[in-house]
Amino acid sequence: MMERSFVMLKPDAVSRKLIGRILSRFEEKGLKIVALNFLQIDEDLAKTHYGEHEGKPFFKDLVGYIISAPSLAMVIEGDDAISVIRKIVGATNPKEADLGTIRGDFGMDTGRNIIHASDSPKSAEREIDLFFNRDEMCDYEVPEDSWVYE
Ligand SMILES: Nc1ncnc2c1ncn2[C@@H]1O[C@H](COP(=O)(O)OP(=O)(O)OP(=O)(O)O)[C@@H](O)[C@H]1O
Ligand SMILES: [Mg+2]
Repeated sequence: MMERSFVMLKPDAVSRKLIGRILSRFEEKGLKIVALNFLQIDEDLAKTHYGEHEGKPFFKDLVGYIISAPSLAMVIEGDDAISVIRKIVGATNPKEADLGTIRGDFGMDTGRNIIHASDSPKSAEREIDLFFNRDEMCDYEVPEDSWVYE
């Protein structure tokens, strides 16, 4: 099923100049970027985005990390995109994430784990609405699609 997921390169990915290498992984897989926004997230947005973790011991540090420098927010489309992207991203703790995943290849600490990706269709919808207006997402066809999908 065609899905859209919300993905965000966190401040460490941007500041370590990993944007190009990470975006390439999604493009090479056959996924399609349909919206991009480079922004420094403010405290309110960070707290709303990670609202499910409010009250947990790491929440304050998580918000501090997310607002510390610019992030790159995006919407990525593809067949079963939400679960496919979570596989490409890897486990929350980069030390435990499989090599070959983004977190496994680029990160060390859970508190500096490079990238966010929606974990379900429901959170994808909520997160996309939080960061993008509908008219900021592009519907477009690329010739490669017929070579990516049967
Ligand atoms: N024990 C922890 N210590 C420090 N930071 C944590 C811890 N657990 C989670 N975090 C931070 O909070 C984020 C959200 O945690 P969550 O459990 O939703 O993991 P995730 O779904 O893999 O990550 P994300 O929601 O960012 O894609 C993590 O990506 C990480 O940055
Ligand atoms: Mg999560």
